[in-house]
Amino acid sequence: MILVTGGAGFIGANFVLDWLAQHDEPVINLDKLTYAGNLETLASLQGDARHMFVQGDIADSALVTGLLTEHRPRTIVHFAAESHVDRSIHGAEDFIQTNIVGTFRLLEAVRAHWSALPDAEKQAFRLLHVSTDEVYGSLAPDAPAFTETHGFEPNSPYSASKAASDHLVRAWHHTYGLPVVTTNCSNNYGPFHFPEKLIPLMIVNALAGKPLPVYGDGMQVRDWLYVKDHCSAIRRVLEAGSLGETYNVGGWNEKPNIEIVHTICALLDELRPRADGASYTTQITHVKDRPGHDRRYAIDARKLEAELGWKPAETFDTGIRKTVQWYLDHPDWVARVQSGAYRQWVQTQYGAPATA
Ligand code: NAD
Ligand code: TYD
Repeated sequence: MILVTGGAGFIGANFVLDWLAQHDEPVINLDKLTYAGNLETLASLQGDARHMFVQGDIADSALVTGLLTEHRPRTIVHFAAESHVDRSIHGAEDFIQTNIVGTFRLLEAVRAHWSALPDAEKQAFRLLHVSTDEVYGSLAPDAPAFTETHGFEPNSPYSASKAASDHLVRAWHHTYGLPVVTTNCSNNYGPFHFPEKLIPLMIVNALAGKPLPVYGDGMQVRDWLYVKDHCSAIRRVLEAGSLGETYNVGGWNEKPNIEIVHTICALLDELRPRADGASYTTQITHVKDRPGHDRRYAIDARKLEAELGWKPAETFDTGIRKTVQWYLDHPDWVARVQSGAYRQWVQTQYGAPATA
């Protein structure tokens, strides 16, 4: 069995769904259910004995220790984090608490558990820490993409907190021998993405007839990866990654934000034309830029490809089409996430605290 943290969030939930579609190995899913955690994303696993959901905090050492002792997972995949840059700019406290203190407490609980395991289990044990390309900072327009040896230059409270967690994970390997691997991935997109991030926000706002808020000139570049490709990379690193190593994960899809927004508008013009016949591009509005906005991220994923043979399955064109279609097909998921009704659903379904 494996333990996933943050498995009710965007990437964690996609990972759990993909894992159980491919394996019968059970998953314990530990998630605090912050605003970003949504059990409705996992509704298809209702009644599936292979999925055990536990509502709780990674910083709750007693809870984590209890789960490790009771279930003896062979692997931990650590997604749980505060993940939205704009929220971190408005208030960094939760980011420090979960991303740094929470990761520290998780590492300590795991270290105590792992140290006491019999040799065979100890050898097989893995903790995979899921991180971001944002720890490397911002690239000049013509600079080469981030490799794993690029220095850490985080610029936002979010990326600084993730960089700190990466350092902790590295140190727990170096000092205590904890068997860890870290992945640093570029921007993800795909199904179940909370509509506060660029791609789902633009789709949802476009369909609601609202403005499409592009920060500044819209020429900031991000490197986009379809979420299921991130999940396959994590599975591959779990299978064959070298202990203590970091692996960059990316899809070689650098795009300026404004181009992303135009692509989404073009797909919606094709798939769900506006009643008045106008293009969704008429809803684009340039708004005040994000403070300290990183200009460019780009991932060099050659190590993962050369050493572990991983490649993304989707191009940006295929992935973004699937994503837009998914949002068109799931208006109820979007409505409930936005209205907060899914929280009532959690209470109704699981009571308080929500455990199933
Ligand atoms: P998300 O915000 O959608 O989900 C985070 C999940 O963690 C939520 O379900 C939330 O309830 C849970 N959580 C938060 N605090 C917790 C705590 N203290 N204890 C237990 N659970 C807690 O984030 P995401 O986009 O799915 O990102 C998952 C991971 O991947 C993060 O570590 C993030 O830094 C990393 N990452 C994200 C991207 C991206 O583009 N979204 C890219 C690279 C790396
Ligand atoms: P986001 O999805 O928040 O991811 P990150 O900041 O972690 O890369 O934003 C992606 C890019 O889109 C980033 O350059 C900020 C920009 N952006 C907008 O222009 N408008 C928006 O409303 C949002 C949410 C983001």
